[in-house]
Amino acid sequence: MDLELSKKSAAAKALEYVEDGMVLGLGTGSTANYFIELLAEKIKEGNLSIIGIPTSTRTKELALGLGIELSTLEQHQPDLDVDGADQIDAEFNLIKGGGGAHTREKKVATASKRFIVIADPTKLVDRLDWHVPIEVLPHSREQVEQKLLEIGGKPELRENFTTDGGNLILDTKIEIPDALELESRLNSIPGVIDNGIFAKRRPELVIMGKGEGTKVMER
Ligand code: 5RP
Repeated sequence: MDLELSKKSAAAKALEYVEDGMVLGLGTGSTANYFIELLAEKIKEGNLSIIGIPTSTRTKELALGLGIELSTLEQHQPDLDVDGADQIDAEFNLIKGGGGAHTREKKVATASKRFIVIADPTKLVDRLDWHVPIEVLPHSREQVEQKLLEIGGKPELRENFTTDGGNLILDTKIEIPDALELESRLNSIPGVIDNGIFAKRRPELVIMGKGEGTKVMER
């Protein structure tokens, strides 16, 4: 299956949920980028006026370059957030943060009235088992690594990478028997800013691209 086409199809389907005048959370990553490009095309055609809330510096630059009006969470509440994911389980728990933007992505998703995830079929799994990206204050790295080892995690520093907030990412292999519990547990470690498990804020809809087609899944 053509994965890029699947991502594009999911992005195009998500555009059907966008209404004139909406405030939109704009996700980060290759699938979200397709959505932002299609959104910009529709705005240019003159059929749509929206305000975007970007979830990363990369997304902000892309959206500004495409002429999309932007704002912040302090000024606007998003009606809808559209973002990608690294893994999605049957209950719509997610792992995000492959692009290291999960802290802001979670803030925007949590503030949004509705949250749609767009993805290709490789992202759908029975059980979450991807490494969990954990954003960590640079001076807390060693203490957090120690704590993660104590709870059975295998943290690996993401090399040559700092987040938009100037922090580090520890990509951590760890068993996820209960996504909601682990999301809270990881965030209770001093020095952790946020982790890539989205169990408290799950999407209402997942749009899975399948080649030229899509499958819309609702919780
Ligand atoms: C970035 C993310 C992305 O949504 C996730 O990595 C999916 O990316 P892609 O659409 O490129 O597969 O969480 O922090």
